[in-house]
Amino acid sequence: MTEGPAPETDPVHLRRRADGALELRVNGVFVMDDVETTSERLLATHVLDQGAREVLVGGLGLGFTAAEMLAQGARRVVVAELHRTVVAAVQDGHGAGPLDDDRIEIVVGDVRDVVAAQDPQSLDAICLDVDNGPDHLVHQHNAELYQPDFLHVCAERLRPGGHLVVWSWADSKELRRDLRTHFEKVTSIRVPVLLGNRESDYWLISGRKP
Ligand SMILES: C[S@@+](CC[C@H](N)C(=O)[O-])C[C@H]1O[C@@H](n2cnc3c(N)ncnc32)[C@H](O)[C@@H]1O
Repeated sequence: MTEGPAPETDPVHLRRRADGALELRVNGVFVMDDVETTSERLLATHVLDQGAREVLVGGLGLGFTAAEMLAQGARRVVVAELHRTVVAAVQDGHGAGPLDDDRIEIVVGDVRDVVAAQDPQSLDAICLDVDNGPDHLVHQHNAELYQPDFLHVCAERLRPGGHLVVWSWADSKELRRDLRTHFEKVTSIRVPVLLGNRESDYWLISGRKP
């Protein structure tokens, strides 16, 4: 694990629910559990199926996207995670952890800085799953990640043909519009999920660098 600056306080809570599921909460807000992880794993297979081998994932969460990257043949996986406690929990064996593999580097820090620190045209894919998407933010400080300036930084770090994929709670016409400035084949992929007894959809919004 590469250490970034220490967080102010620790807002992260992992708890085992009565139904046995492991739940991740940050600042009291539900982030995810380990029951329905279809969309997290699809985030990885979507880019690997298109040939990606050197990838950046933000954030770690319970580690399902990163673990799928490793299991499905990624050559290099850089993961950015804001909270050290989240990394420690996964490396302790919670969620899809531990992620003990020479191909992975987990950086404690903001994905903004971790993406910016990558060499130009050094990645085949950037997969962002740090918040609920542009219109349903849990953390206001993440708003910029869906804005044209950061999309541009991502495009510069990708090789031609590389993919940027954004996990989102809902489809976003605005994000698709902004992606089209730097990416082609911009599409929203609907991912049906079962939340308890309720059927719902999550979304992966994806673009390919020309
Ligand atoms: C929904 S979870 C990611 C789930 C992950 N795809 C998985 O498979 O388990 C979101 C994660 O992003 C982290 N996060 C939130 N904002 C971030 C940021 N700006 N930079 C890096 N990580 C961030 C959160 O702490 C949380 O661990």
